[in-house]
Amino acid sequence: MQIEEHKSLKNYNTFRIDCKARYFVSVATITELSNVLNAKVCPNLLVLGGGSNLLLTKNIDALVLHINFKGIEIVSEDENFVYLKVMAGENWHQFVQYCIKNNYGGIENLSLIPGNVGTAPIQNIGAYGVELKDVFESCNTLSIKNLSPTNFNIKDCDFAYRNSIFKNKAKGKYIITDVTFKLTKKNHNLKIGYGAIQDKLAENNVKKPSLKSISEAVIEIRKSKLPDPSILGNSGSFFKNPIIDLNTFNIFTEKNPDAPYYKISETEYKIPAGWLIEKAGFKGKRFGDAGVHKKQALVLVNYGNATGQEIIALANKIQKEVNHLFKIKITPEVNII
Ligand code: EPU
Repeated sequence: MQIEEHKSLKNYNTFRIDCKARYFVSVATITELSNVLNAKVCPNLLVLGGGSNLLLTKNIDALVLHINFKGIEIVSEDENFVYLKVMAGENWHQFVQYCIKNNYGGIENLSLIPGNVGTAPIQNIGAYGVELKDVFESCNTLSIKNLSPTNFNIKDCDFAYRNSIFKNKAKGKYIITDVTFKLTKKNHNLKIGYGAIQDKLAENNVKKPSLKSISEAVIEIRKSKLPDPSILGNSGSFFKNPIIDLNTFNIFTEKNPDAPYYKISETEYKIPAGWLIEKAGFKGKRFGDAGVHKKQALVLVNYGNATGQEIIALANKIQKEVNHLFKIKITPEVNII
């Protein structure tokens, strides 16, 4: 364990923004973490996981803590379920692959999502009809203030669409050290209702879907639409899909009868922000090194040397135009620092 100074964070955020950390340390164990925090190197802290949901807009005048705890352990199991405790620094997709290999069901639809296990609960990652909350049992945390441990169960976490207590009341107060998942060992509850999955399974000639064939379908869909962060810097969906009330929805659909939407409740509808951004003319557009992905307008990309400020300027331009055209506000889902 070594504390580095003025370290470039380019390799620690999937947007590949070149900001510097005043101090940087990667910690592999809880003991290393306590030693670093007790050393009081710097009063400000920034906790970093996989850096996949983050937009850096300035140099970070803080100690940047890279959480690199590893390990997967069976806590308990019975005939039907397995409870797995997974350390925060495990790569999410590698964990999904481990589950598929061992025939543990529940997260196959979440294949290929970038980032680490410990940051997955913060924004309640989700894709193709499954969210992290569907398999979440609890997580262990340490208080940043005094290192005391607190366990959060599913109720404590206040999970919602791309949201949790860790983005609200508990923001910046805890370090998630491990997450426990409840997964199925048999009678898997396969979620193949999503049109894109059904089409891909049919295309792959899958008659009887399995954890593996669903994971493969999701990987193929994601690869065809979403840019690979190791090739083109990005943070997945930059914006959340806006949720609008019935009145706004009625006005919107009257003017835009071809727009896709999902009904959430009798009074709430979700509109795909990607559709709004595409209709506003931004899909595939490039402004310097900041751009909008050509296959999925919800994803902003860094063609090489974009700064966080340039990405923000593009995001603001998009928000303004979408609001002007559709009277709908879209908000970022990435953490902007
Ligand atoms: N659409 C367009 N143009 C675009 C993009 C999308 O018209 O450029 C339309 C599509 O035709 C479709 C609808 O919007 O009718 C929905 O598109 P898609 O199925 O690609 O999903 P999304 O709503 O754009 C969400 C998640 C993704 C997740 C997919 C699949 C959010 C913010 N994003 O995207 O999550 O993979 O559903 O479940 O909810 C992420 O969070 O980083 C992410 C990639």
